[in-house]
Amino acid sequence: MNVSGKTALVTGATGGLGHAIARALRAAGANVVLSGRRADVLASLAAELGATIAAADLSDADSVRALAAAHADVDILVANAGLPASGRLESFTEEQIDRALLVNLRAPIMLAHALVPAMVARGSGHIVFMSSLSGKAPAGGTAIYSATKFGLRGFAGALRADLHDSGVGVSAIFPGFIRDAGMFEDAGVTLPKGTGTKSPEHVAKATLRAIERNKGEIDVAPMTLKLGATISGFAPELSATVTRKAGGAEIAAKFEAGQLDKR
Ligand SMILES: NC(=O)c1ccc[n+]([C@@H]2O[C@H](COP(=O)([O-])OP(=O)(O)OC[C@H]3O[C@@H](n4cnc5c(N)ncnc54)[C@H](OP(=O)(O)O)[C@@H]3O)[C@@H](O)[C@H]2O)c1
Repeated sequence: MNVSGKTALVTGATGGLGHAIARALRAAGANVVLSGRRADVLASLAAELGATIAAADLSDADSVRALAAAHADVDILVANAGLPASGRLESFTEEQIDRALLVNLRAPIMLAHALVPAMVARGSGHIVFMSSLSGKAPAGGTAIYSATKFGLRGFAGALRADLHDSGVGVSAIFPGFIRDAGMFEDAGVTLPKGTGTKSPEHVAKATLRAIERNKGEIDVAPMTLKLGATISGFAPELSATVTRKAGGAEIAAKFEAGQLDKR
């Protein structure tokens, strides 16, 4: 799909990756609809991009329904909003678990459910789901987050199969650690030496490529992390042992401490 002149709804537009994705879509000629909760951030990005604002709380089913109904005719959905939901399972309240599942998994599914019929009727459209390498390789301290990101991967792949030949494309993006802005940067965690990062602009570029070339899955990470995720797929025990010996639990604890305010 050529995004020029098309309308794209971007959730999580107030966040680090959402900003970059919205800017890239606008630069490519798309009309952008920005969604998030923080009204001040939405207003300043909308002014910069000449975009439309669609505030919504994705942990609220009525709000998700209203967002989809108000923008039922969009050509592109980028389901990017997400909570880091980091930490050991027993450290979560029930409410925190529900919120992570609602925002990270239920909202993308329900938005797709609401928007796909019109796209299929038009024979054109594209949906991008923002997963994570945590949706390919589980690690300690990410049980809830991984559950949602693995879920998104499965949902995207199956939906893509269902919509094959309908003219509607489906993609999933798998970022590793993203520097400069977003939930990893905000956590203030220093990674072990040699662990590479990518920028929000890399994620935005991958998102655009996924839409334009109808790519099923794109990893946005240095080769070593991509390789690690691939190995985790066919040798999960080996991968878990390597991560444990490399100090995975200590790093996970730092993420939990740095991201508690986003639960
Ligand atoms: N940054 C990374 O290193 C990285 C790596 C892998 C995957 N990802 C994924 O990339 C996506 C974007 O992450 P990010 O780094 O940009 O994170 P971020 O800066 O923390 O932004 C998160 C976004 O989600 C929105 N959000 C959270 N709760 C919401 C709710 N209840 N209703 C509506 N919107 C809500 C936030 O909007 P408000 O604050 O306005 O509510 C914000 O726009 C996420 O799905 C994340 O899992 C990020």
